Amino acid sequence: MEKRQRESWGSRIGFILAAAGSAIGLGNIWRFPYMAGSNGGSAFILIYFVFALVIGLSIMIAEFAIGRRTGLAAVGAYKSINKNWTFAGVLGILTAFFIMGFYPVVGGWALAYVVKSVTGLLSNAGSIADAFGGFISSPVEPLIWMGIFLAMNIFIVARGIAGGIEKASSILLPTLFVLLILIALRSITLPGAGAGIEFLFKPDFSAVTGQTFLAALGQAFFSLSLGMGCMITYGSYLSKSKNLPSNALIVTLMDTIVAILAGLAIFPAVFAYGMEPTAGPGLVFVVVPTIFAEMGALGILFSVIFFIALTVAALTSSISLLEVVTAYLIDERGMERKKAVYISGTIMLVTGIFSSLSLGVMSDVKFLGVGAFDFFDILTDKIFLAIGGLLLAIFVGWVVKKEDLEDELTNGGTIKFPLFNVWYNLIKYVIPVAISIVAIMGIISIEQTSLMIFGLAIIGVLAIFSKKL
Ligand code: PFF
Repeated sequence: MEKRQRESWGSRIGFILAAAGSAIGLGNIWRFPYMAGSNGGSAFILIYFVFALVIGLSIMIAEFAIGRRTGLAAVGAYKSINKNWTFAGVLGILTAFFIMGFYPVVGGWALAYVVKSVTGLLSNAGSIADAFGGFISSPVEPLIWMGIFLAMNIFIVARGIAGGIEKASSILLPTLFVLLILIALRSITLPGAGAGIEFLFKPDFSAVTGQTFLAALGQAFFSLSLGMGCMITYGSYLSKSKNLPSNALIVTLMDTIVAILAGLAIFPAVFAYGMEPTAGPGLVFVVVPTIFAEMGALGILFSVIFFIALTVAALTSSISLLEVVTAYLIDERGMERKKAVYISGTIMLVTGIFSSLSLGVMSDVKFLGVGAFDFFDILTDKIFLAIGGLLLAIFVGWVVKKEDLEDELTNGGTIKFPLFNVWYNLIKYVIPVAISIVAIMGIISIEQTSLMIFGLAIIGVLAIFSKKL
């Protein structure tokens, strides 16, 4: 392959903020609370933590190692080690496109709510749920916000790694932390907040089913940006002197802390105001403004702050999804960065339009029983990420040489990774078995069986044909 000077991160802290920025996103603040809320609360959260801190962290270390070792993004990384595995990288690119099929729609909602918070949304607490339903199903308004959100992504990613992604994350991520802490403090000091804290932290296993485990696993991968080559891509821009396991640990912990903060911001208030934790994807967009509506002028300020935080979190993640596709086009297709960004951005605009419309005027148009939004969401969350993670673990455990991994994770023996053997056995044996069990249990008990079969068929087709890619 032709060699051109590869871009790299400007600094360690810049890399951590960018990787944490990718991990921390709608997955933590929009999805985690409603998944926890509709899967019984604390028990889901406990399973989620175990998955994130054991499976997630191990896979993140593996993705960083493969990315830096090869110096290539997802497809190239797999391909350069073993051509038969190219399809696992291609699956990652497809997953990035699919997640970007709905992610900018929700990012657009968040952006819209920054403005709506000051233009009267909060003036009547009783009508906020209807206002949300009306807004997301309208044919034009959400499309405009999605377009603006996507344009912000294109603008940042077109500027490249250190100048674009790293710079944006370094400013935006710390802002997010401060804002969320403020809101969580407000929420847990409301009268009656205790029930929400109990819902979050007092395990109740009566609601646990096979679905709960798959939901928690999918959520862990989604939230940590794993199972689709994103952290391989970010790792490929890392210099040889960085400590991969400790960086992975920091990113995983930051992501988990933000999920807890989001839970603390939302559930105490949900219970304090007697609302339903099972409200689904509308949870954040309905519950949060309703809570703030009762607080007068200060509520408007909190609401603006909250939705800025949500937009910021979404943006630092969606740029990483766009980067996965962009890096593939640059590495494997020899495309120039700007062109790669514009082409992928345009495809994402089209899929985003279908997703948004599937919640309104196109709600009757179904494929395998679901509309476009759910199609992208369920396929990625319930199958592609889990299988992507499984493939990565098998690849790293059984295809890549153990000495190469040890060399990469200890920077050629210059730093220590005392848990190397523990990590290696987890990746080689424990994690593939665990993911397989969870995936099989979940897939057979899921409602959308035909969609799951379709997803597995796509992976099969990729496995057969992608050597040409
Ligand atoms: N981790 C992001 C979130 O929690 O919102 C979503 C995401 C970004 C998933 C990047 C996958 C990815 F590669």
